[in-house]
Amino acid sequence: MTQHINAIDDNLVAPVTFGVWMQHVQTTMEAALSAFLPAADIVPTRLHEAMRYAVLDGGKRVRPLLVFAAGELFDAPVAMLQRSAAAVEMIHAYSLVHDDMPCMDDDALRRGKPTVHVQFDEATALLVGDALQSQAFVVLSASVEDADGIAVDIAPLRQIAMLRLLAQASGAAGMCGGQAIDLDSVGLHLSLDALELMHRLKTGALLRASVLLGAISGKTLSLAETNALETYSTAIGLAFQVVDDILDATADSATLGKTAGKDAADNKPTYVSILGLPESQALAEKLRNDAHAAVAPFGDKARRLRELADLIVQRKA
Ligand code: IPE
Ligand code: IPE
Ligand code: MG
Ligand code: MG
Ligand code: MG
Repeated sequence: MTQHINAIDDNLVAPVTFGVWMQHVQTTMEAALSAFLPAADIVPTRLHEAMRYAVLDGGKRVRPLLVFAAGELFDAPVAMLQRSAAAVEMIHAYSLVHDDMPCMDDDALRRGKPTVHVQFDEATALLVGDALQSQAFVVLSASVEDADGIAVDIAPLRQIAMLRLLAQASGAAGMCGGQAIDLDSVGLHLSLDALELMHRLKTGALLRASVLLGAISGKTLSLAETNALETYSTAIGLAFQVVDDILDATADSATLGKTAGKDAADNKPTYVSILGLPESQALAEKLRNDAHAAVAPFGDKARRLRELADLIVQRKA
């Protein structure tokens, strides 16, 4: 018997493999992101073209995948998941554009392509980040309609809570704060606690927001549900950056689509520089187990969240 258990759309019936599910979310989100971005032929065309260049056709889309995976817990409407996922991915893409600029990591390669300031220019890269950040909140604050144009009912207070969640995750208490610590830490030997705080903010905050936005797209969460998802997010958020540090030290630029070996070259404190490679790998494994344990109460509904924890730890790029 086939059973409709997948939140993406009714054409996907159980059981679909993780790979098929992942590809479906990625394809769905490519179209949604394209629709939510300004068209390249509208003035100012150069800015719009650069925004589309930064967001479309690249990236693993881990944050949208987390939104959709968490959305399955409470059968969230697809239209709401698409907006949540697009908003987080726009903030993430903006963070990458700025992260690569000469005043930060000064990188020339991103997602297998020249970085935005190289392909366009620095002023455009700055504006692309600014405009993507604004666009994320335009997308998340809009009224929501499904593919047939029918209004999706979402309580205004719930939508405001989602906007606040994304704003906090992006700002000084989240990604921007983590980036500030990262830049202040060049050449320093950080304690493990300080390193963990930096990673939690610069990377963990947006991953946590992805999970919570996906779940809240379905319903207002109970305290127990929030706590379980917080524990899961904390674990995968940290694991993601631990693995990013490992890959920076072990993979090549062609595989990563960004410059490998950059952390050591820039004298950045990382899990690899502080713990060493084997201990960093062991930590990532431990965090994966923590993530699995955290979502055990959700049973089979958390299948995609478990599979994503595995992907985050086992990824090779
Ligand atoms: C890279 O993020 C920057 C970090 C936060 C470590 P991703 O590894 O998710 O980059 P894309 O989106 O796949 O390009
Ligand atoms: C950046 O961390 C995290 C962001 C907030 C963009 P990294 O500087 O390690 O990311 P990569 O390695 O350039 O993708
Ligand atoms: Mg950086
Ligand atoms: Mg960087
Ligand atoms: Mg890195």
